[in-house]
Amino acid sequence: MPKELKFPVVRPDVPEPNTWKPYLDSLYASNQFSNFGQYWIQLAREVENYFPSSTCIPVANNTLGQVSVLQGINVRNKKVMLSNFTFSATLHAVIQAGGIPCLLDVDPISGELTIETISKGIREFGKPEVVIYTRTFGARRQIDAISEFLVAESIKFLVDAAAGFPTQTDQTQPNECIEVFSFHATKALGIGEAGAIVGNSSMMERIKQATNFGFASSETFRDGTNAKLDEFSCIRALAGLKEYSRVAEARQKFVSLAYASIYSTEKFITLENDGSWGWSLFPIKFDAETTLDKFARCALSLGLSGKRYYFPSMQQGYVGTANVLKVKDLSQSEAWARRTYCLPTYGRYSQAESEEIALIVQRSLEQIC
Ligand SMILES: Cc1ncc(COP(=O)(O)O)c(C=O)c1O
Repeated sequence: MPKELKFPVVRPDVPEPNTWKPYLDSLYASNQFSNFGQYWIQLAREVENYFPSSTCIPVANNTLGQVSVLQGINVRNKKVMLSNFTFSATLHAVIQAGGIPCLLDVDPISGELTIETISKGIREFGKPEVVIYTRTFGARRQIDAISEFLVAESIKFLVDAAAGFPTQTDQTQPNECIEVFSFHATKALGIGEAGAIVGNSSMMERIKQATNFGFASSETFRDGTNAKLDEFSCIRALAGLKEYSRVAEARQKFVSLAYASIYSTEKFITLENDGSWGWSLFPIKFDAETTLDKFARCALSLGLSGKRYYFPSMQQGYVGTANVLKVKDLSQSEAWARRTYCLPTYGRYSQAESEEIALIVQRSLEQIC
């Protein structure tokens, strides 16, 4: 096994056993370990506190959450547009739900879809049933204008917000938009494997049925899967939510302390640290892949891990058997995929550690400037 570097790319903030063990007695007393039990209901309510006008369906993970949304909507043999710059799970979800994936390009500054890139896709392929918008690296940008555009075009809107659980109450979730989060151990709100579907769409009941094998009545079932979140995961998620504001604040502080020198460097693009998201990873988009390699090699030699993420792009990486459509020009999403490197963000660290990482980053930047 390779030797672990001093600063690993992930230092999970999974809740300690003493924070969720107290729930176990009443869990065993209830005798219900899955299928929308008491802690599933409690978790849904607590997530809904972050989204006052929406309902929540806790799920086994983000991937199955997205599959369930697409099955609930029914995308079989219909086009679903998604970014070329996302994690493989987004593409897998479309394929698993029987949709026809159609890859779009992104904005050069945000790395995300825009009305322009979606419109280009519509010009080349016609209107899709659904557009999936990936909130890259968990950033929570305003998406109202895109939502209004899609509503006007009668296109449904799914937001893959895997790492984008908000740090405060979010009043901005647009009408008819459905977001899916991941509570994977690598995320700021990380508990192992889990996720949540959140939305105020009229489709939510149908989507909940899709998470439960598609059962619509005792005699019939539609397309569906098993995306139910069991009660053990729910209690870890409840404990994680209790800790989340502290963890998110610590991660934001870590980003300011460790990566200050990156913010002051004009040559690179990164995310602004505006305090509204939880930071799972800290992305840097370099001017070229060779610069990325030089930076990464130097940082690694000094003990700081990192990783390329949303790499490879969907068009370059996917070698499965589904037919994947793509717009002619994917150059911006390819640049993001090939030139982005992610550094760790920690919720637990000492002042000395954050200072050492800041120094490693500074040294690595000197190598490439
Ligand atoms: C954009 C995106 N979508 C989906 C996923 C998959 O989430 P999960 O592991 O909960 O299925 C990830 C995982 O990190 C992701 O980054």
